[in-house]
Amino acid sequence: MRYFLETYGCQMNVADSELVAGLLAGCGYQRTSDPLNAQLILLNTCAIRDKAEATAQSRLGRFAQIKRKDPAVLIGVLGCMAQNLGDHLLESKPYIDFVLGPDRYRRLPEIIARRQHDPQHIVDTRLSRFEVYDDLFPSRAGGINAWISIMRGCDKFCTFCIVPFTRGRERSRSLDGIVAEATEAVRQGFPEVTLLGQNVNSYRHEEHRFPELLQAVAAVPGLRRIRFTSPHPSDVDERMLQVMAGHQNICKSIHLPLQAGADRVLRRMNRTYTRDQFVALAQRIREVMPGCSISTDIIVGFPGETPEDFEKTLEVMRVVQFDSAFTFKYSLRTGTKAAEYEDQVPETEKQTRLEELLVLQKSIGLARNLALVGRVVEVLVEKQSKKSAAQWAGRTDGNKWVVFDKGSARIKDFIQVHLDGSFGVALKGQLVNTPEDYHAVA
Ligand code: 5AD
Ligand code: SF4
Repeated sequence: MRYFLETYGCQMNVADSELVAGLLAGCGYQRTSDPLNAQLILLNTCAIRDKAEATAQSRLGRFAQIKRKDPAVLIGVLGCMAQNLGDHLLESKPYIDFVLGPDRYRRLPEIIARRQHDPQHIVDTRLSRFEVYDDLFPSRAGGINAWISIMRGCDKFCTFCIVPFTRGRERSRSLDGIVAEATEAVRQGFPEVTLLGQNVNSYRHEEHRFPELLQAVAAVPGLRRIRFTSPHPSDVDERMLQVMAGHQNICKSIHLPLQAGADRVLRRMNRTYTRDQFVALAQRIREVMPGCSISTDIIVGFPGETPEDFEKTLEVMRVVQFDSAFTFKYSLRTGTKAAEYEDQVPETEKQTRLEELLVLQKSIGLARNLALVGRVVEVLVEKQSKKSAAQWAGRTDGNKWVVFDKGSARIKDFIQVHLDGSFGVALKGQLVNTPEDYHAVA
């Protein structure tokens, strides 16, 4: 049986799709990149904003056409939208064969087999307090980075966010299981791993907390780069920063979602920190690790956000000087606390604020990049540059893309690049030759 699997949403979904692929490979299924060539079509969905759900709905429309031509094709919906909408999905889309939430993927082989002869549609969106898929092996496509899911779920209940409902309560994998997976990733040739979790730094398994886990992963022989995402600012502690600072292979880059700059909004978002605490944390990070990159997430137009509140977000951006920012217009998610707030901000106002924020971040990001020009930095060669077949693109430890002429460098090499300019969000530079001249032609 051939299956087609398409993934939307965050890296957690990417990692889950790799688990699903591993599970299906173990049952003898073959993956195809062409849905027209598949007997089983799986869509791993996201529910974080209405746009994500709209994308999934339109992809499902396309798959429905395929099924109309060949009714034997099975269509399964996985992920956060599956969890969020459950059997409501079947009401408008009766062609869907099964709907599985993020904690139910173990059932896939059984459900596929059953649905082939059973006319009953299957919806299973039970959430688990324990499921971490510790014993399943992800099937990775190869490349530079291996995603390693270390914890699942979220207990924070930010009032805008659907995730605590789609992914359930927090639970973590064993430290040994994670270290074994990182070791295996190195053996398979991955120079980098990214530890993943909805609240990655609230990791806790038995007596182990996130700093110990980071330390244990950093000790994996041959592992050159470790990243993690996404931490919650309230769970960043001094120990975590010291472990980062103390290990050369832990990348000096932190994603620190701000969401909003006004205390009044932060409170209504249930973010559990104030503007001052956030700014102090960012300062502490750069004190402990000078030059550490800080990226962020920001929402504009949260219910009740006034122009003055929004101005405070801009002010924090100017103070912290984020290296990059993911910016979003607030999207109402039914079932969350903020959906009940009556002071929703008009769409046009959200758009205006978003644009203002983008302009500011563009200039801050550029200034941060220009400050690096003239330096020699280590870059991991990751792929061919989109602009030219004669150039590579790779990332610095601080998560910045650098483009440079290929020279004798190869993918997965760690090389030294002399930075000589910045365009948009990326930097450009020249390879610095070492005595070996990187794989010098004999
Ligand atoms: N509307 C807009 N953005 C959201 N995010 C989460 N929920 C919403 C929502 N309802 C953003 C937050 C989070 C990122 C992953 O998505 O900024 O950090
Ligand atoms: Fe989307 Fe959040 Fe689910 Fe990731 S966890 S797929 S961002 S809803």
